[in-house]
Amino acid sequence: MICLTLSSKTVTSANAHAYALCVYEGFSVTKDISATVHAKFPILAQAVKQKAFKGSAQTHCVVSALHNKKLIHIILVGMGKKRGLHCTLESYRRALGKLIRTAECYKLTSIALQIPEASCFKESYDDVIQHTATTLHMADYRFDRFTKDKPSKIKRSITLCVGSYVTQVKKALSVGEVIGEAVNNARMLIDTPPSDLTPAVLAKHAESIARQHNISCKVLSEEQIKKMGMGGLAAVSAGSEQDCKLIIMEYKVSAKAPTVALIGKGITFDSGGLSLKPANAMETMKEDMSGAAAVISAMQAIAQLQPKVNVVMVAPAAENLPSGAAAKPGDIITFYNGKTAEVRNTDAEGRLILADALSYAVKHYEPDFMIDLATLTGACQYALGPFFTGMFSKHDSAARRVEVAAHSSGDRVWRFPMDDDYLPAIQTPVADICNIGKPAYKAGATTAAFFLHAFVGTTPWVHLDIAGTAFDVPGMSYYRTGATGAGVRLLIDLVMNWK
Ligand code: BES
Ligand code: ZN
Ligand code: ZN
Repeated sequence: MICLTLSSKTVTSANAHAYALCVYEGFSVTKDISATVHAKFPILAQAVKQKAFKGSAQTHCVVSALHNKKLIHIILVGMGKKRGLHCTLESYRRALGKLIRTAECYKLTSIALQIPEASCFKESYDDVIQHTATTLHMADYRFDRFTKDKPSKIKRSITLCVGSYVTQVKKALSVGEVIGEAVNNARMLIDTPPSDLTPAVLAKHAESIARQHNISCKVLSEEQIKKMGMGGLAAVSAGSEQDCKLIIMEYKVSAKAPTVALIGKGITFDSGGLSLKPANAMETMKEDMSGAAAVISAMQAIAQLQPKVNVVMVAPAAENLPSGAAAKPGDIITFYNGKTAEVRNTDAEGRLILADALSYAVKHYEPDFMIDLATLTGACQYALGPFFTGMFSKHDSAARRVEVAAHSSGDRVWRFPMDDDYLPAIQTPVADICNIGKPAYKAGATTAAFFLHAFVGTTPWVHLDIAGTAFDVPGMSYYRTGATGAGVRLLIDLVMNWK
């Protein structure tokens, strides 16, 4: 647990066990570290030199000393090289992650952190504070619900030394905290074992968020889903003993405001169904509801931050399991919008449940913009690896919006082409569309996006394939093994900065 407060004091006069400063590569103790620090700790320059600490990215240096008869630690964390005159916010975020890991290692529970000048990053001071708060919360997260040790219970207080900006940045601090909590809520849902997080449990969680933050939430049962003709969601859930759910949350600001629809894939466990996955590919398939976790958790923040757009969230949730009742390769199903699909591979189930959810959002809300997040394809994971989410859209202006939100939030995306040349890949003589692409067309992430496109009509729409970015991302100091909460920051940024 982390507790953030603002202070106008200098780091060395704040009451803390450690004083933390972020430095860029090639910094000089005398020129770049405030005089109050190196005047009080004349050994700092010598120690930095002796340890050959340069300020490179993802490195740190701890110097311990006596201050007012107390042992304190000065923690310098590197942000790497400046690009021109500036460091990137991402290098700062990673330095903050490193700071939390260092605090854990040294068991430090109170830290005073000198916030760098906004001019270091070409950003406003408010933005720097907001990102500081979000990132510190993200770095602090851990999933210890099932372990005897509960490190998440350790309270760590961090004083953000912001000089004369204390009143100005209060709002930015609380916004940043709300975003960080939303990211961590998504991670908690994703990290929860699949037998503990069934579609019904996920739906209950959404209902409790809605109740707590005063927005509306409706959950459709499997019976209702079947009656309404959502053949995709029903077919995927057929092999499971758990009922599927369609979770709908609404934040309404005004009838005149534009409406943004957020759709998230909620497969609480993906075994592949009768087209069973090999054991190793199934190991982390509790992550297959990361899209749903992201959109539900984004709603938690949206309800608190009150953007000027209406936001509706639709998350289809089901388990994909084999059984005597499961959908079979060769089955033909009918979706909510009346289209039919041949199910050639039951492991391509995400697009089947999303087809119904997209159709539902289009029909009931006629949104001005729609975005879906899904751990949709192994192909996307192979194409981009763990650091960039795959983005697909036929609307350049919609894609541009997402690129802007990606850049400012830190959830990076990379756009793939959606040329109609790929479209014949999902043709079949027996139904309107087929759920896997013909082998000659390769491009599995793109053909999956084309499948979804058949259900969005004329709505400006963006699809984010988070198969690579949602889980087990290596080498990022503010993540841990397990869920990352990919997309939550991006979604909140997108609706908060809507123009
Ligand atoms: N949930 C998987 C995709 C996935 C893979 C997510 C790895 C996260 C990490 C999806 O349902 C799936 O199995 N897709 C198949 C589609 C194929 C059968 C056309 C895939 O990518 O192999
Ligand atoms: Zn699958
Ligand atoms: Zn899946």
